[in-house]
Amino acid sequence: MGKTLKDKILKLKKEKNAIILAHYYQPSEIQEIADFIGDSYYLSEIAKKSKEEVIVFCGVNFMAESAKILSPNKHILIPNKKAGCSMADMVSSNILIDLKKKYPEAYVVCYINSTYNVKAYCDVVVTSSSALKILNKVSNKQIIFLPDKNLGEYISEFFPDKEFILWDGFCKCHNKINKNDILKLKKQHINAEILVHPECKKEVRMLGNYIGSTNGIIEYATKSKCNKFIIVTEEGILHELNKRSPNKKFIFPESRIYCEDMKKTTLENLYDTLLNMKNEIVLNEDIRKKALKSLENMHRLGD
Ligand code: 13P
Ligand code: SF4
Repeated sequence: MGKTLKDKILKLKKEKNAIILAHYYQPSEIQEIADFIGDSYYLSEIAKKSKEEVIVFCGVNFMAESAKILSPNKHILIPNKKAGCSMADMVSSNILIDLKKKYPEAYVVCYINSTYNVKAYCDVVVTSSSALKILNKVSNKQIIFLPDKNLGEYISEFFPDKEFILWDGFCKCHNKINKNDILKLKKQHINAEILVHPECKKEVRMLGNYIGSTNGIIEYATKSKCNKFIIVTEEGILHELNKRSPNKKFIFPESRIYCEDMKKTTLENLYDTLLNMKNEIVLNEDIRKKALKSLENMHRLGD
């Protein structure tokens, strides 16, 4: 019997001393072949600690860029260079430079869903799973938080003594969900628990039994005594939810939360990338070094 594409990728991976990292929103066949699957924080830690020379990052550009910032001597490849994040593109370094002039005392916190140019001008990077822990260690009263206004607003609610200056960015997939989408589902599934990613609007977060990162949602659902959940995040997460809790039921909003960029990875482009060592992330060294400080601060304050 001929070798499948999956077999070929696994063989190639050994030959090239490579590992495959995949975010929970990736297509199922990609999550199945990955060495590590996780949320943004976990994957950034793996990228930093791994010994292999080559990392194929199955996710979107800002994730692969973060891996390169942390591991400049490794080859970081992304199966499809067009896999971007519309939220990350909603703010630029020039905008941030202007904001810093306007609020010179502010501490700048940027969500990992941002370009490396923006990371270069901030004090600390956060992910949805690490933001609360990190902000707890920041004493400044004034915080510039960007680009996600929803995550920023969610975090700001825990710190009433701080002034948050929020940028007006958002995730097109999460932000479009309204409370009525969820209330409708809750009527049909009265006993279901509602688990919400903080990139959702406040009116949706307010309905959540739990609010947290992709990994937080998976862990909550795994441990909960409940066996039915309304999941308000990207549907790729279902792969891991089903794997960990095959007997539980997971319901998603009808107006689908589907990230097209996360689905740009295929077994074909993953194979081609590894075979030809294509789509390598290359960063400007000066900017990378500046961005490194903010990512190192994330790991220092978030661990
Ligand atoms: P997590 O950090 O929760 O994995 O989220 C990443 C992301 O892009 C959410 O849209
Ligand atoms: Fe970006 Fe939204 Fe896709 Fe996450 S789900 S990668 S925030 S566009």
